[in-house]
Amino acid sequence: MIVDAAVYLDPGALAEQMAADIRAGLTATPKTLPPKYFYDARGSELFDQITRLPEYYPTRTEAAILEAHAGEIAAVTGAESLVELGSGTSEKTRLLLRALRDAGTLNRFVPFDVDPAVLKDASAAIADEFPDIEVEPVVGDFEKHLGSLPRHPLRLLAFLGSTIGNLDPAQRREFLAAVRATLTEGDCFLLGTDLVKSPDRLVNAYDDAQGVTAAFNKNVLAVVNRDLGADFDASAFEHVAVWDERNEWIEMRLRSLRDQLVHVAALDLDVRFARGEQMRTEISSKFRRERVEAELAEAGLRLTQWWTDPVGDFALSLSVPV
Ligand code: AVJ
Repeated sequence: MIVDAAVYLDPGALAEQMAADIRAGLTATPKTLPPKYFYDARGSELFDQITRLPEYYPTRTEAAILEAHAGEIAAVTGAESLVELGSGTSEKTRLLLRALRDAGTLNRFVPFDVDPAVLKDASAAIADEFPDIEVEPVVGDFEKHLGSLPRHPLRLLAFLGSTIGNLDPAQRREFLAAVRATLTEGDCFLLGTDLVKSPDRLVNAYDDAQGVTAAFNKNVLAVVNRDLGADFDASAFEHVAVWDERNEWIEMRLRSLRDQLVHVAALDLDVRFARGEQMRTEISSKFRRERVEAELAEAGLRLTQWWTDPVGDFALSLSVPV
């Protein structure tokens, strides 16, 4: 059964937020665009293609870890509700739901996403496979509305795919504090984190041979053109992916191929790009166990389990409120 979605983010608020974010990014030095605007229909399709690229190991590696350990996760959490942040439509959710159902504890799934259309489809698909549970979708932004999550007992809060890697350390601190604040005794937090590895493999994962990641990166310009009436010429920018050793993150950028002036009608803003100027479009942080454990601890979460694939490319951690 699917209950009506709780909506904490209406289209007007989302549009206002986007205008403010894009204005702040385009007037900053260096310029930036926030990664959350990659995911319109085309961007989501391109991301889906990325997850199947030979160079992009995170998605299949995390799925393999879940396949190997979903039963154990179900057993140690005893969760009655699975709450998934940034849920999308993934197969990974099903692995967890099946394990929890087979363990006999599951009675509810709470998908949480900014996109009501994505939530509607995901809810229908899950309700179809799991007719005995209640699906309770929530429309919200995981950086803002965790405090509004429904408070059922024994929740497993899952944040998969290393989406946390998009947040910088200050944003992560705030996010993890909000996760901690929503959890009560008996709840737990399952977090997917991509791990530090050779720079070659990391850069290849974000600069694939087929150019899918380049198209994904440039798509954000099409999003800004459509939603804010900008006139970005995507062919006047090129995709850049660099490993930032000091911060241990991959940075995606768009490099301007010429001097150019971009007009953003909805913001009444003109933006000058110099030839060679680079605009940051995403950070994708890579982690080590010590850092994950320390950041969780700082938020008041105690790491209880750490699972990786055999070569240690990706990790899933389970933590509980202290
Ligand atoms: C969805 C944020 C986890 O950082 O690896 C994939 C997005 N960007 N290729 C990531 C992404 C370029 C992805 N996350």
